[in-house]
Amino acid sequence: MSVKYDFYDDMKVVLITGSSSGIGAAIAVQFAQSGANVVVTGRRADKLAEVAKQCQNVSPKQFKALEVVGDITEKTQCKRLVETTIGQFGRLDILVNNAGIGTTGALSDGDYYDKFESLMQLNLNTTVYLTYLSVDHLSKTGGNIVNISSGAGVRAVAGVSAYCMSKSAMDMFTYCCAAELGPKNIRVNVISPGPVKSTGIMIAAGAAQGTDQSDAIFEHVGQVLPVGRPGRPEEVADAVLFVASDHAQFVTGTHMCVDGGIVAANAFAAPPKH
Ligand SMILES: NC(=O)c1ccc[n+]([C@@H]2O[C@H](COP(=O)([O-])OP(=O)(O)OC[C@H]3O[C@@H](n4cnc5c(N)ncnc54)[C@H](OP(=O)(O)O)[C@@H]3O)[C@@H](O)[C@H]2O)c1
Repeated sequence: MSVKYDFYDDMKVVLITGSSSGIGAAIAVQFAQSGANVVVTGRRADKLAEVAKQCQNVSPKQFKALEVVGDITEKTQCKRLVETTIGQFGRLDILVNNAGIGTTGALSDGDYYDKFESLMQLNLNTTVYLTYLSVDHLSKTGGNIVNISSGAGVRAVAGVSAYCMSKSAMDMFTYCCAAELGPKNIRVNVISPGPVKSTGIMIAAGAAQGTDQSDAIFEHVGQVLPVGRPGRPEEVADAVLFVASDHAQFVTGTHMCVDGGIVAANAFAAPPKH
């Protein structure tokens, strides 16, 4: 059961990347439910349309989400995303940098560096570029940014170095932005989920064939967490809605784990075989 925030007024405009599935979709639906205008984006138009419909169904005034289909690893698409948002609503209040992939790969793999480059392009570079494009708009509204990182940004995992580095860099980018943008009236925070089921990350990484297999993996992984289960996308969304709200006006540069205790307990993957 999710917390229902009703303090996002009609004026607030929230842009969530990677909102065609998983955590991003849950964030979009909860912002819509709270009364905000939402902009959803991703490459899969059919999935975006489904999420937009869910947003409209729960929106107190049946606001229709703005759907922007595009690959944000292309800079032109990032520009189009921000320009379309401003063109439609005339403002931006909250940017959620959520889109990400979880590719794995050992340094000895022949395609390690290619995978590293494309992962960094999505997980890190788009966050930096969209932030850069959004600063002036957020400054006008006294807005804020929420970055979706991972516990893997603060714990080393063998065979996952590119992902770990992308999230570590995202954490540091968050702290630097919080320090730099505070005087511009912009707050910046980062949330690190632990293993979250009902998401597409395992499928996109080729580690699972479909939702059932993906959820089975997450259920298995969840057993080693202090809470004994994986998280749900709505549980991450709850934290995002709080930290982005006016109830968190004194909160910036914060790193919040929503991870069932995986970081605290250091309950990541077993050490590699020798
Ligand atoms: N699930 C977990 O256990 C977990 C744990 C820690 C952190 N996270 C983080 O949470 C975030 C969301 O992941 P998720 O688990 O919800 O996975 P997901 O369901 O696979 O969502 C990923 C989203 O990113 C979008 N995306 C991927 N490549 C894109 C591209 N080139 N251009 C535009 N959009 C793109 C996808 O949309 P399209 O495919 O439609 O483009 C999708 O909406 C990620 O940053 C991930 O690192 C997840």
